[in-house]
Amino acid sequence: MKEQLNNIKDSAQKELSNIKSIQELEDIRIKFLGKKGELTSVLRGMGALSAEERPVIGQLANEVRAFLENEIENAKMELVRRERSSALEKEVIDVTIPGKRKNLGKRHPLSMVMDEIKNIFIGMGYEIAEGPEIELDYYNFEALNIPQGHPARDTQDTFYINQNMLLRTQTSPVQIRIMEKSQPPIKIICPGRVYRSDAVDATHSPIFHQVEGLVVDKGVTMGDLVGTLEVFAKSIFGENTKIRLRPHHFPFTEPSAEVDVSCWTCGGKGCRVCKNEGWIEILGAGMVHPKVLKICGIDPEVYSGFAFGLGVERTAMGRFNIDDLRHLYENDVRFLKQF
Ligand code: PHE
Repeated sequence: MKEQLNNIKDSAQKELSNIKSIQELEDIRIKFLGKKGELTSVLRGMGALSAEERPVIGQLANEVRAFLENEIENAKMELVRRERSSALEKEVIDVTIPGKRKNLGKRHPLSMVMDEIKNIFIGMGYEIAEGPEIELDYYNFEALNIPQGHPARDTQDTFYINQNMLLRTQTSPVQIRIMEKSQPPIKIICPGRVYRSDAVDATHSPIFHQVEGLVVDKGVTMGDLVGTLEVFAKSIFGENTKIRLRPHHFPFTEPSAEVDVSCWTCGGKGCRVCKNEGWIEILGAGMVHPKVLKICGIDPEVYSGFAFGLGVERTAMGRFNIDDLRHLYENDVRFLKQF
């Protein structure tokens, strides 16, 4: 029996010396120390021993058990250590490998120009107003003195949701919405998206942006309008910029004008960008029509006002020397990164 015990010790030791995984270790533990293990079955045979032999074998058996438990524990620690160090070796970090560059976005040139325009007018004491892009026919046309069948509707053909609802063709309906709700003094701009059923080309898009301006108070004159637009044009296109008003017709302003700025490329001499005219049209403007004031509940005998509607794409194209409006919508980062 003594011999059996020593054999167990030896063979367990041998097996432990070339184990490779925790699972193998567990198998060995069960094989030698488990309920049906080799050591246990030896102990079961102890009943057959004489009274002198029993304590001797008993002690030896306990020693073998303690020895095996200890060896198994050591083997386990060794396995864990080996696993950890091989993991560390596999995970070496090479700090000299160049990093991955994150592709940073940029503000879109249209948003940049929008912000510049907003800042200029905020600097002159204007507030920012907003209105819906899906608009009622009433606000987009009717209240702006453009009744059903008026020829001005043809030049602003749009997308209709139904008979009364459409995608706004201009930011001017916001003038009505503001004047309906408030009494003068009013001094707002409204930047926003507008829609027209136009075919896409270098200067047209069915979706584009405008900034509407509206000032209503006692004694507001055409001179105030011209002065305001001069300040604006110089701030955005440079100190030497001049403006020019050409008589025009808008149903909701009287008198009305189309406003040009001296060409940002040639300064007025004439070049390809201004089609040799020296001037580029950027907005429509005029004195708010008395009929429109009245519709909104403002007395035209007491108050007067001016309004303007500015094309943001045009302004951005001038500001950044962009020759084709389509670039602004293609979202090609190589293009957008330049500004
Ligand atoms: N809404 C006009 C347009 O889109 C521009 C405009 C605005 C004209 C305000 C006069 C006053 O053409």
